[in-house]
Amino acid sequence: MQQLFPGEVFANTADFDIGIRQLIPRYDEMLQVITHCLPAKTHRLLELGCGTGELSLKILKRFPNAEIIALDYSPRMLQFAENKITAAGYQQRWTGIQGDFGEWANNPEKLNIGSEFDACVSSLAIHHLHDEMKLKLFERIAVSLKQGGYFWNADPVLPESPTLAEVYKLAREEWASQQGTNLTEVRAKLGTSSTQGYSSQDQLATLNTHWQMLTTSGFKTVAVPWKYYGLAVFGGSRE
Ligand SMILES: C[S@@+](CC[C@H](N)C(=O)[O-])C[C@H]1O[C@@H](n2cnc3c(N)ncnc32)[C@H](O)[C@@H]1O
Repeated sequence: MQQLFPGEVFANTADFDIGIRQLIPRYDEMLQVITHCLPAKTHRLLELGCGTGELSLKILKRFPNAEIIALDYSPRMLQFAENKITAAGYQQRWTGIQGDFGEWANNPEKLNIGSEFDACVSSLAIHHLHDEMKLKLFERIAVSLKQGGYFWNADPVLPESPTLAEVYKLAREEWASQQGTNLTEVRAKLGTSSTQGYSSQDQLATLNTHWQMLTTSGFKTVAVPWKYYGLAVFGGSRE
């Protein structure tokens, strides 16, 4: 079986858009929250780990003047994203770049994707970095934003206790059943991945740890505009 990069999730990339909506409760709502938290004047955005382009698409629809630089290390995911963005007619406002966001954090001179962004966004990707690299990435994001720019990230977080871990697991099972399936069925479509670049399988941190990392990285306003069991949208701005 082909080895995937961490975060590609499904053995067949074509299964991603349906499968992720069965696996992740309220996936569309979670991404929508990110778009709602971006200021109306948002123009230049950086997306980290764009996958098949679902968040890009939502942003480009909501902000007719927005331009996105979308980074992902997987050529397969980028190809799906590009096809989708082109089919929607947004190709002039979207640039896909193949690269590792860990590399960008560590060696920005090697992977120069620009700076002075109005916003940086990410969903379901950064949790593949271990904590030391998450912090480095948050620091890189902070210095790559314009004054007043925003960073919003949607990611799974480490359950606060073993009891809550059970509660969150049940919530996902219940969600899958509401979608007419179950997690065993969905998981049968998952691929196997091994460490690639800076990413490895899930490296979850608690919401509290993320909050502290954001503060340490120089974000003055830190917020959690959405949380649903073990999933959260969090981030902030430097003002
Ligand atoms: C679970 S998918 C989520 C995709 C999309 N953001 C969404 O919410 O549908 C995670 C994506 O992050 C990418 N990814 C994971 N680690 C990465 C890294 N270190 N650098 C660049 N892309 C990475 C994977 O290739 C994958 O496309």
